[in-house]
Amino acid sequence: MTQPPDSTPYGDPSAPMERPVPSKVTVPRLLARKNSGQKILCLTAYDYPTARLVDEAGFDLILVGDSMANVVLGHASTLKITLDQIISATRAVRRAADRPLVLADMPFGSFHTGVHDTLKNALRIVREGGAHGVKIEGGASRAHLVRALVEADIPVMGHVGLLPQAVNLRGGYKVQGRTAEAARALLADALALQDAGAFALVLEGVPAAVAQRISERLRIPTIGIGAGAGCDGQILVFHDVVGLRFGPAPKFVKRYAEVADLMRNALAELVRDVRTGAFPAQEHEYAAAETLPSDWDADVAPADWSPSDARQA
Ligand code: KIV
Repeated sequence: MTQPPDSTPYGDPSAPMERPVPSKVTVPRLLARKNSGQKILCLTAYDYPTARLVDEAGFDLILVGDSMANVVLGHASTLKITLDQIISATRAVRRAADRPLVLADMPFGSFHTGVHDTLKNALRIVREGGAHGVKIEGGASRAHLVRALVEADIPVMGHVGLLPQAVNLRGGYKVQGRTAEAARALLADALALQDAGAFALVLEGVPAAVAQRISERLRIPTIGIGAGAGCDGQILVFHDVVGLRFGPAPKFVKRYAEVADLMRNALAELVRDVRTGAFPAQEHEYAAAETLPSDWDADVAPADWSPSDARQA
């Protein structure tokens, strides 16, 4: 990578960070992937650098998930994240992601007070955040909200199964659909959301066999997280995948890197280098544009300063 010239250390502000944009992922294109056998690749991202990496890796969909509350903001649940925080993160993700479809989560409280507020808040996510659509948690009881959003031309991805926003109601994060009765209820929720116009459906924390059957019964793609390989696509949380989460990860997570360890080592090295004076080295310094006389600072002094101050210091 070429370094900017010394005179403009941060580079040319008018130069766009150009990259070639391969074919953009759209809602109709994702729908067409159902039954194609080509899995839909989804991941969360909450900021510019991670979204850029996710785009570069070839993912189809980026979710600005309310899991940001946990993995970025350090909250114990997703309930505390605000609409403004989601919108701000979505803006950063949209600046980075050229090819993937970008969806943002409707945070807890943003759709619980009726259709009007749901529409108003989703419109903010789309207009201010730049999201292409939204994801909303909940089953059949949320179908009327999904219908209203779709009538307002906002694409919606549903989310059933383990619902992190329902943690208090359900008394924890529990796998759903484990009995025949619960599996039937889950399928009914999924069908209701499909009928309401959802273009895709997240199945979270669902037995693999149940998720597979639901995927077969739906016209729209299912995106699994902790729901086995029978879904039409998969989604995980970025920080879990790269090993940047503190504490144990759920069973369904596969870690592909230990980025926290890399960061720890890098920071420890920087600490050592600054302490020993190894950083900054000569190659990190800027040179003056002319030869400075040795007394260049002699006639610049506060009014009450005298050379004896310098000697005492
Ligand atoms: O917020 C989130 O990250 C999610 C998952 C589906 C990954 O809702």
